[in-house]
Amino acid sequence: GGLDAKFKAKGKKFWGSCADAGLLNKAANVAVLKSDFGQVTPENSMKWDALEGTRGSFTFGNADTLVNWAVSNGKLIRGHTLVWHSQLPGWVTSVRDKAGLTSVIQSHISNVAGRYKGKLYAVSDFFQIWDVVNEIFNENGTLRSSVFSDVLGESFVQIAFAAARAADGTAKLYINDYNLDSNNAKVQGLVALVKRVNAGGNYIDGIGTQMHLEANGAGGAQAALTALASAGVQEVAITELDIKGASSNDYVTVTKACLAVPACVGITSWGVSDVDSWRSGNTPLLFDGNYKPKAAYNAVISALA
Ligand code: G3I
Repeated sequence: GGLDAKFKAKGKKFWGSCADAGLLNKAANVAVLKSDFGQVTPENSMKWDALEGTRGSFTFGNADTLVNWAVSNGKLIRGHTLVWHSQLPGWVTSVRDKAGLTSVIQSHISNVAGRYKGKLYAVSDFFQIWDVVNEIFNENGTLRSSVFSDVLGESFVQIAFAAARAADGTAKLYINDYNLDSNNAKVQGLVALVKRVNAGGNYIDGIGTQMHLEANGAGGAQAALTALASAGVQEVAITELDIKGASSNDYVTVTKACLAVPACVGITSWGVSDVDSWRSGNTPLLFDGNYKPKAAYNAVISALA
């Protein structure tokens, strides 16, 4: 078995990759997705601008392509992402009243999460996952300014999670962010918010740390995962892993960090091959431009032996 199988043999639930319709047309990429990855995250097709560029008019074609491929191939899906300030259509940003924006969030989530409800139930005892809110913090741990926080304050988080729970009662609901790579101020702000929101009900199941790392930047990963798990959530996950230079040491450090933290259920690489990466100039992934495993891949496999 490949990477995903070896990770599962260590008690984890998946090692995944992002993908989307274009990447599913590349045979070499698909072969590696099948052999080495157990989960897929839509890189762009489930973002708000891709799905509901016009209010109330949904375009599901590319998202359906990814979901249908995952179902056919027995891969889990991490839905990404329901509420994000980026790749957000202008019509959403222009809704400036509380009741109107609440209804816009609820309608978007009910249509999107409702469409994919329970899709993978048949292929796994593990459930669908949603990144419900993405990148809502500043580096100092305060809430980022966006139409959501500007109009609704912190309450948009609870509104979004309640809508996702109502749309798909079996999905694991996550809050996701970047630069959660050590036990820093952003981690602490996020943990405090998760505790506040979950004090009011059963909302947030998991915390995702993206982990778009620099070279030698993995040293704080285990401390970060431990701190995130201390929020009392069921699980944490590394959701968008890539590492500048992809040194074997950095990749092994991240792998061992997830292995060492019981709440860490899985790792998702932000792509298969360096050529398809949003950071392609940084050669950050586990497979080279010819979709061949790099030294870092072999080092991770050895660490999982
Ligand atoms: O689809 C259009 C195409 O029609 C147009 O011709 C072309 C011209 O530039 O742009 C295409 O859209 C691009 C899109 O990817 C699809 O390829 C956007 O310009 C480009 O900005 C977009 O980049 C994505 C980025 O998110 C947007 O913020 C990356 O592929 C994607 O890897 C990246 O992923 C994010 C996660 O969602 C959240 N965390 C950070 C991570 C990396 O930035």
